[in-house]
Amino acid sequence: MKKKKIVILGTGGTIAGTAASAFDHTGYTAAQVGIEQLVAVIPAFAGSACELLTEQVAQVDSKDMSFAVWARLAVRVNHFLAQADVQGLVITHGTDTLEETAWFLQALLDPGKPVVLTCAMRPATALAPDGPQNMLDAVALASHPGARGVLAVCAGVIHSARDVQKVHTYRLDAFSSGDAGPVGYVEEGRLRLLRNWPETHTGQASTAMKNIALQDDGHNWPRVEIVMNYAGAGAAVVQALVASGVQGLVVAGTGNGTLHHALEAALLQAQAAGVRVVRATRCLEGRVLPKAGNAIPDSQGLSPVKARVNLLLELIT
Ligand code: SIN
Repeated sequence: MKKKKIVILGTGGTIAGTAASAFDHTGYTAAQVGIEQLVAVIPAFAGSACELLTEQVAQVDSKDMSFAVWARLAVRVNHFLAQADVQGLVITHGTDTLEETAWFLQALLDPGKPVVLTCAMRPATALAPDGPQNMLDAVALASHPGARGVLAVCAGVIHSARDVQKVHTYRLDAFSSGDAGPVGYVEEGRLRLLRNWPETHTGQASTAMKNIALQDDGHNWPRVEIVMNYAGAGAAVVQALVASGVQGLVVAGTGNGTLHHALEAALLQAQAAGVRVVRATRCLEGRVLPKAGNAIPDSQGLSPVKARVNLLLELIT
């Protein structure tokens, strides 16, 4: 019988990081080891029921994630999703912006096959690295019959692209799905599912994908920035962004998306001048519950960074 193909795309991150000492979990350099080598050192893959193909799409510390890398990644993911013999994809990624890339791919592609992002909190050279186990879990998830959508797996927990958020600076289990809870767990290579596979119908995906493929150097993407409400927040940042030609603004409001009156006035002025403005919350959990007559639309439960991805995709179509 022909083996299922799982494609593993490398983009960098701590999972591909190296440190001078095996005990150093923070003073390392991310994005050093190639994806082929990361896969080759996992003995369990040798007898895998799947055929594993690797491709290095990028080699970046994900704090430096760029539109150019996103465009390249989207094009390659789209390419492999279209291959009938590919069962699913795994993407190795830094933890810092993993949730943004996950949501970007979900909102753009809404894949009918699994696209699983995985990562590590310790570099590949650590005495006890977490990357190899995360990679094994990701392949188990990507090869699971019926799995679909963009998912993230870290420390045995499966998250949906919509809900996943990095919530801890150094723990191995650094992610949370907040109120929604995880999609499930990977336990000794088996899946225990708690809810349905994610689906998102944005209705804009194919046009956005075409434009992204055409602009894969990432230069002509719209400018969408994030501003925050806080004690003493004012108009200056928004006014400077509008003056510099920003096309979209996400505001991370306090609590239920509330805004300092000076910041709100500046955002309304920006909106009147044609800038798209969306209201999210800086709270880690919950969502903005809209009130009748709100002039600034809410983010439909998306965190500020994911609401920004949506605005980017809307403006790129
Ligand atoms: C990164 O996000 O690339 C570095 C940090 C990490 O992967 O944990």
